Amino acid sequence: MRIVSGIQPTGNLHLGNYLGAIRNWVKMQDEVAAGGGLSLYFLADLHAISMPHDPADLAANTREMVAALVACGIDPDKSVLFNQAQVPAHAELQWLLSGTARMGWLNRMTQWKDKAGKNREGQSVALFTYPVLQAADVLLYQATHVPVGEDQKQHLELARDIAQKFNNDFASEETPVFTLPEPTIPPEAARIMSLRDGSAKMSKSDPSDMSRINLTDDADTIMAKIRKAKTDPEPLPSDKGGLAGRAEAANLIGIYAAMAGESADTVLARFGGQGFGAFKPALGELLVEKLGPITARFRELREDSERLDAVLAKGALKARELAAPTLAATYAALGLVRG
Ligand code: TYM
Repeated sequence: MRIVSGIQPTGNLHLGNYLGAIRNWVKMQDEVAAGGGLSLYFLADLHAISMPHDPADLAANTREMVAALVACGIDPDKSVLFNQAQVPAHAELQWLLSGTARMGWLNRMTQWKDKAGKNREGQSVALFTYPVLQAADVLLYQATHVPVGEDQKQHLELARDIAQKFNNDFASEETPVFTLPEPTIPPEAARIMSLRDGSAKMSKSDPSDMSRINLTDDADTIMAKIRKAKTDPEPLPSDKGGLAGRAEAANLIGIYAAMAGESADTVLARFGGQGFGAFKPALGELLVEKLGPITARFRELREDSERLDAVLAKGALKARELAAPTLAATYAALGLVRG
């Protein structure tokens, strides 16, 4: 098994990232290490320049995100932890795959449509070709499994389409250049929603900080955000079926279940019939209890930027080595002559 996944260093790590992806990264890191496989996790800093950004913030956020990932349990001795900018093979492979990716495929990406909105002409080219870089990120390392939240599934399907077309066009069936990666999406927390709007996903780009729990939030902030989270006036149902049409309630129950490692039905068996006045403090306390140790470790780690840079340098060295054979095979398959 070869696990590969990335996260953009564009702000704080939030509960959606943690439950949708990072918790799975940690679990898979430990599983593959035990089975002799390898996991690679990276900061998608090259993806971050597809939107307007402040260079100083990007550099600071990149280091902060390393600290956050290590605080969550990513162990740089077990996983290869690095940032794309230190591994030029990502950008190189993106270009090589650009001959295979099709405009029509990229035009269908819902993230492109959402982010570009009505102003497609005014977007950067990078925002449009972003999924080709994402394909390069995973194909470069022959990833077999890619742990992500639901919102990244379409990008992973595109990576498979690109790999398949490239293999068909430029490789023989016996010796394909690329492995087709499988997305691994957690069934119980694939899509954590905003605390203010049960129809929007929890996101770092939401202008309201009240919409998300950040891994940097202190106990009082977490309790306040949960207390103010949008709900409805009905008491909680006693099983999952009763959450239909109640997006905000379903989201809070889902968060509780994912955090406690229980099913939604188990949580509802305990809280069914009660109002949010009883449930919200219990959820807040659970979050504080589980996130507290991560936040404390994060605060300590983020102070040591030398150590964080050393983690990234070590990871990049290993990633460059792992990327080299696939990159060379891609150049060769395309008939590009290199010395
Ligand atoms: P990013 O940085 O937006 O998010 C990182 C991971 O967190 C997941 N996630 C969520 N899961 C559940 N509920 C939510 N509300 C939520 N918000 C975010 C995302 O699904 C993701 O797994 N394009 C990617 C980064 C990337 C990547 C890759 C991922 C670049 N190259 C290659 C996998 C493989 C992104 O912007 O994720």
